[in-house]
Formats: sequence, C-alpha cells, structure tokens
Amino acid sequence: MERAQVLDWSLQEQLRPYMSSLKPRPSIYIPEFIAANQESRADSVLTGTMAEQMVRIRADIRDFRQSSGVDKVIVLWTANTERFCDISPGVNDTAKNLLAGIQAGAAEISPSTLFAVASILEGCAYINGSPQNTFVPGAVELATQRGVFIGGDDFKSGQTKIKSVLVDFLVSAGIKPTSIVSYNHLGNNDGKNLSAPQQFRSKEISKSNVVDDMVQSNPVLYQPGEKLDHCVVIKYVPYVGDSKRAMDEYTSEIMMGGLNTIALYNTCEVGINAFQQQNHHELQVEAVLQ
Ligand SMILES: NC(=O)c1ccc[n+]([C@@H]2O[C@H](COP(=O)([O-])OP(=O)(O)OC[C@H]3O[C@@H](n4cnc5c(N)ncnc54)[C@H](O)[C@@H]3O)[C@@H](O)[C@H]2O)c1
Repeated sequence: MERAQVLDWSLQEQLRPYMSSLKPRPSIYIPEFIAANQESRADSVLTGTMAEQMVRIRADIRDFRQSSGVDKVIVLWTANTERFCDISPGVNDTAKNLLAGIQAGAAEISPSTLFAVASILEGCAYINGSPQNTFVPGAVELATQRGVFIGGDDFKSGQTKIKSVLVDFLVSAGIKPTSIVSYNHLGNNDGKNLSAPQQFRSKEISKSNVVDDMVQSNPVLYQPGEKLDHCVVIKYVPYVGDSKRAMDEYTSEIMMGGLNTIALYNTCEVGINAFQQQNHHELQVEAVLQ
C-alpha cells in the first residue's frame, strides 16, 4: 500500500489496522511471461515443480474457502499482463494435454493458466482481468467438461471501455470509423510491465479485438475482410504515478465524402480504477451464477 502510493496518506492510516495483518500467499512466478523489470518485486514465490505449485494454489483456494467461511469462491486474476503463450498441439490444445503438460512442466503454460486450471479443478469461477490468452483451448475444454464459469479478456475499464461504447455507437448510427489512434501514458507498475514489447503486444491485441468485433458485426458499412487503421501506443512515464492519461482520435466517414473527427482526453487513477473493476466484476459474476 505504501509502495503503490495509490491511496492518500490519511486513507492509508485509516486502513492500516485492516491491512497490517494481511499476508499475501506466495504465487507462481515464471519469469519468461512477464517483463524482466518485474523481477525485484517477485519476493514471495512458490518453489517446486509446476504440478506441485498448482497443487499449492488448489490447497490455498480450499483453505481460503474453509477459513473464511464464504459460500462461494470466485478467483479474479489482477496480476501483471503476461505475454501470449503459443498454442501447441500436445501441450495446451486439449484438456487432457494441458493437464499432462502441467505434470511435465511444459514451457508454454503460463502462471495465469495454472491459476485458471487450479480454479476449474476446485470448481471456482475464474475471471481474467488481464489481456493475455490465459484461456488456451485446453483450459476452455476443461472448464466446459467441469461446468465451471470462466470469462474475461482484460478489464477494459478505462480507455478500452470508452472505445467499445463509442465504436458501438458510431457503427450503429451508420457512421463508419476508419481510423482510431490511441496514445496512453501512465506511471504505475502496470505501465512499467507494459513497457516490455511482448507484454505490450498482449494489450495491443486485446484493445484491437474490441474494434475488430464491431467491424465484423456490420457487413453494411464494412466489406468482408476490411479493417480500419487502429494504432495503440502505451508509454511508461514514472512521474505521473498512478494517473493514466489517454488521448484518442476517432476519424469516421459520413455520407457525401464527409469526415467526422472526435478527440478525447481522459485521465483516470488506475489503481483505484482496478479496485472498482474488481468489485464490479465479482458482482456481475455473482449475478450470472445465481
Ligand atoms: N488498473 C486498471 O484500471 C486496469 C484496467 C484494465 C486492465 N488492467 C490490467 O490488470 C492487471 C493489473 O493492473 P494493475 O494496475 O493492478 O497492475 P500492477 O502492476 O500495479 O499490479 C500487478 C501486481 O501483480 C503482481 N504479480 C505479477 N505476476 C504475478 C503472479 N504470477 N502472481 C501473483 N502476483 C503477480 C505484481 O508484482 C504487481 O504487484 C494488468 O494486467 C493490467 O493491464 C488494469
């Protein structure tokens, strides 16, 4: 809480009695999946084989369920954005292969997928708040077999949320977006992790999916295979701290050769935004499960 500097000092002081006894459980750290600049933070990690580490996560879920006395456990991934993992036949393409791959400690199985598999095996819904491809085909098949709810592809809570709402509005109104350019800069640890190319790529893909889905949904405005120019830039600027500044320019074609341009500037506090989204997602899942 002190290191992150998300909350005002007076609020930190009020929360200190509640926070001081909390101790994070050790987690799974596979350095290849997050940025190298995250290494110094990884100070509470599980050891042992991949299979042994997943057994520990399963035991933690069970222990939490029993010791807290809650009726239902929903697991929410809010850890750093990982790079995409390769989908390889025989490793993560089917439920059987994924479970065997975990036993063998296969290279292309990410920590978030291990958490997802642990949750599914414990019968707990799993929500992915980050943009990477946690839900490899084997994980989806396992969830389907076990009847466990999994969902999520990045929180899409700030700039991306506005983008999905705005593109939906424009396309539904017969206005054809042809170019969307988004610049972001932020100074928190998420920005530091995203300054590494492979992790940025995961974010870029998830932000593009929002637009691609909308384009594909309207065959009147867009020809089959037609794409708009979509450019996303994310820069790490430590000085702005937990503030994230997003600048977007939407250029759209209207009738008779006319153009419409919308420029947006949005500042949010990412840490508090993340808390807000976690609550929101948990409530949504709870509603779906009921
Ligand atoms: N903050 C937002 O508004 C927002 C919006 C959309 C998506 N996201 C995504 O949510 C995720 C979290 O965002 P944040 O702003 O809280 O980032 P953050 O960097 O402040 O926090 C992530 C934490 O996860 C820890 N971590 C990394 N790998 C881990 C692992 N394997 N097990 C346990 N802990 C691990 C890191 O040490 C760090 O403390 C990111 O992927 C981000 O892109 C955030």
